[in-house]
Amino acid sequence: MSKVLSAVAWPYANGPRHLGHVAGFAVPSDVFSRYMRMAGHDVLMVSGSDEHGTPILVLADKEGVTARELVDRNHAVIAAELADLGCSYDLYTRTTTANHYAVAQELFSQVWKNGYMVEQTTRGAISPSTGRTLPDRYIEGTCPICSYPEARGDQCDNCGNQLDPTDLIDPRSRIDGEVPEFVETQHFFLDLPALADALREWLEGREASGTWRPNVIKFSLNILQEIRPRAMTRDIDWGIPVPLDGWRDQPTKRLYVWFDAVIGYLSASIEWARRQGQPERWREWWNDPGALSYYFMGKDNITFHSQIWPAELLAYAGAGSRGGEPGQYGVLNLPTEVVSSEYLTMEGKQFSTSRGYVIYIREVLDRYGPDAIRYFICAAGPENQDANFTWAEFVQRNNSELVAGWGNLVNRTAAMVAKSFGAIPEPGALEPVDEAVRARVVAAFDTVGDLLARQRVKAAVAETMRTVGEVNKYVTDTEPFKLKGDDQRDRLATVLHTLAQCVSDLNTMLSPFLPHSSNAVHRVLGGEGVFMPMPELRQVEDLDKEAGSGYPVITGEYTGTPAWASRPVVVGARVSKPTPLFAKLDESVVEDELGRLAES
Ligand code: MF3
Ligand code: ZN
Repeated sequence: MSKVLSAVAWPYANGPRHLGHVAGFAVPSDVFSRYMRMAGHDVLMVSGSDEHGTPILVLADKEGVTARELVDRNHAVIAAELADLGCSYDLYTRTTTANHYAVAQELFSQVWKNGYMVEQTTRGAISPSTGRTLPDRYIEGTCPICSYPEARGDQCDNCGNQLDPTDLIDPRSRIDGEVPEFVETQHFFLDLPALADALREWLEGREASGTWRPNVIKFSLNILQEIRPRAMTRDIDWGIPVPLDGWRDQPTKRLYVWFDAVIGYLSASIEWARRQGQPERWREWWNDPGALSYYFMGKDNITFHSQIWPAELLAYAGAGSRGGEPGQYGVLNLPTEVVSSEYLTMEGKQFSTSRGYVIYIREVLDRYGPDAIRYFICAAGPENQDANFTWAEFVQRNNSELVAGWGNLVNRTAAMVAKSFGAIPEPGALEPVDEAVRARVVAAFDTVGDLLARQRVKAAVAETMRTVGEVNKYVTDTEPFKLKGDDQRDRLATVLHTLAQCVSDLNTMLSPFLPHSSNAVHRVLGGEGVFMPMPELRQVEDLDKEAGSGYPVITGEYTGTPAWASRPVVVGARVSKPTPLFAKLDESVVEDELGRLAES
């Protein structure tokens, strides 16, 4: 049994989440976390809304609300979506809590004390017409490294390198095309070159483990070549104050949003422990070198998790070439794995919120329910390569795999048991065909579990569904519906018992992917209570602010999670004729949904 930190990327609080977002981080991390709990590990799953930064400010201006009002609204929306999707966070919080501010400032202070925050005078962009600071990502120009003509001031989406706006060739404002003016400004730079050897050593160790996805480790090692100091403060009035004399009170100097967002993994763990009334418990996941940590995200986040966050942790520990010592949180674990997915397109094109080319999670939850969408993402999501979502494939997979494959197996099993016995029957002696199907199913626990432990969600769900197919074939082979007479009653009991046992086991195996329906199947087989625990949305007070500064969090009690193992069905458990588990979707769904896309 290990301590496992499941660190899930923090959704940016600029609006509701769409399918592309949750396919990248939310569903894969939840499947993994649920499995790891079932396998007996002590999982701490944390995340929250990422609420600072320029895009929030720009959007709030546009809507005529304050940044605070904007993130209050979006945090509540996103938390509700993720809870309804069934994401089993121990804590889903936000970056505007007093706790997060304090933790981020503690990290900054110690990194500074250790000498890894270097003050430099730089040139910052302002808009000549308004005099306001022009944020990095609102400047575009030609990438100096790969010559991509639409690189942004913070990052080039073509070669993935991080940039500064002054690096861009022919810079212009993305807001109005204006050529920015660069003026002198003071900032703190994280001395990444002083951390490069430590980063390389860590990454080479991770490479040697052979467990990272090839693209991720290759990319991470590659960006070490171009490493240079990065500004960790910004000229902006929305964010965490810089905790140093002469800076603290400056209204337009704030920590860089990415500097604070990645710290959220730690601050959320601390907030969780404080809310448990065991304020030091987070250390079990962060200070014990034997604890494991898995970070889930989309691929545009890799740099921040395989370079910036580890660099912050190393600098905090004093583990770079400038030396130093750890602050009050001690030596904090570096990521065990950076689990990044690729991109999801929709009907062959990129999602675009601004162009309305998007499917919001709320809409699919309302129309198709959480498990149908979770299933698609698991079976066909962008795990190792870019993937394309089409409504035709969604309907087809729903109907042929969930409804005709799994749903049908559950339904006919329950219907036959209900009709012939009304309860799970006592089996007679097993025949080879019964032994064979049982052996197949039991063996799948190992195969599927092994894949899930390595975050191979796609292969895991495929293997489980193949096993569902084998059990459906068992029904065809044994033809229980033809076992009619009294002399065949014993054989019928054996087949139906075997079948119920297989369905029960498959339900256990499918429960990380399909947690909601696993509870329904559990009840169909006469089970009581909840099989797979679900997260809940709860309103809490900020731990360190005056009453009335509350916010919703996702949390949950997951200690009742079932073990990843076959459990014997209970002879005599009542089984009644079930209602179908999954809804068959009419082909017209495809046209309807494509029509909605075209309208928006
Ligand atoms: N908000 C970022 C995004 O949506 C992800 C932040 S992950 C964190 O891409 F670790 F920094 F929080
Ligand atoms: Zn480039």
